[in-house]
Amino acid sequence: MGTYAISGSASGMGAATRQRLEAAGHRVVGIDLRDAEVIADLGTAEGRAGAVAAVIDAAGGVLDGAVSAAGLGPPVAGDLIARVNFFGSRALLEGLRPALAASGAAQAVQFGSNSSTTTPNLPDDLIAAYLEGREEDAVAIIGSAEPVFAPAIAYGGSKLAITRWCRRAAVTEPWVGEGIRLNVIAPGPVDTPLLRAGQVHEVYGPLMEAFPVPVTETPGADTLAAWVEFLLSPAARFACGSVIYVDGGTDALMRSDDWPRTFTM
Ligand code: NAI
Repeated sequence: MGTYAISGSASGMGAATRQRLEAAGHRVVGIDLRDAEVIADLGTAEGRAGAVAAVIDAAGGVLDGAVSAAGLGPPVAGDLIARVNFFGSRALLEGLRPALAASGAAQAVQFGSNSSTTTPNLPDDLIAAYLEGREEDAVAIIGSAEPVFAPAIAYGGSKLAITRWCRRAAVTEPWVGEGIRLNVIAPGPVDTPLLRAGQVHEVYGPLMEAFPVPVTETPGADTLAAWVEFLLSPAARFACGSVIYVDGGTDALMRSDDWPRTFTM
């Protein structure tokens, strides 16, 4: 049985993934603001460093897998979204990488979102600031956006950037070369406290209601946890840098011809 780190383990899809792994006999080291083995704020540099050190200590330096699920969404303020969703996720994955490498055959899953490809008008300079690790620049760009849209831009941008960062990292020597498979799950609306906080908001509620989702039934957290459990399983070892959309069809509806595309060399 393995040892797995899960951020965001106290709620929603992180908690549901925890339940599945524990039911299968694995050990989970949870990271969250509350109700976890490792209490840490992934929105700060100190919190990220403390989380990495505490997880590696608790796991004895070896992890069979990691799930980066901690996240915030609109209507939470855009700067917090940026700090947790991109910079916290990246620091956690990078910090845990040596412990994942130590297992020789680890698997890691980052929570992206279909917001990365279905949020219009994401600023390219924000994506660049995320990917270049310029945290305060990213926060400043979000701060200069129209206030009502700032959380949505921070969110979609954070998910696009962390997805791209994972795809770039997954195929490099320190990741695939060390036996680690890093993949991204990109859900659409899933019934969790994060989604519900948006649904009851006076601005975001109606926007979310208008969001086109061809499959009309909204899944619960365990539906997505089943996909994550599969991505952590031996059967998923050929997946590397993959982005798995489980979003009821919104990405296919809005971006049907954008991928796959032809290219020239
Ligand atoms: P949730 O709100 O149920 O759980 C998120 C967890 O992250 C909470 O336990 C929270 O305490 C933790 N967290 C937040 N800020 C933190 C911080 N600074 N440090 C440490 N932990 C922190 O949310 P849900 O829906 O389960 O989200 C999981 C992931 O899935 C997130 O990354 C979210 O962006 C993503 N996602 C969610 C969708 C949805 O519709 N629910 C859709 C697409 C992606």
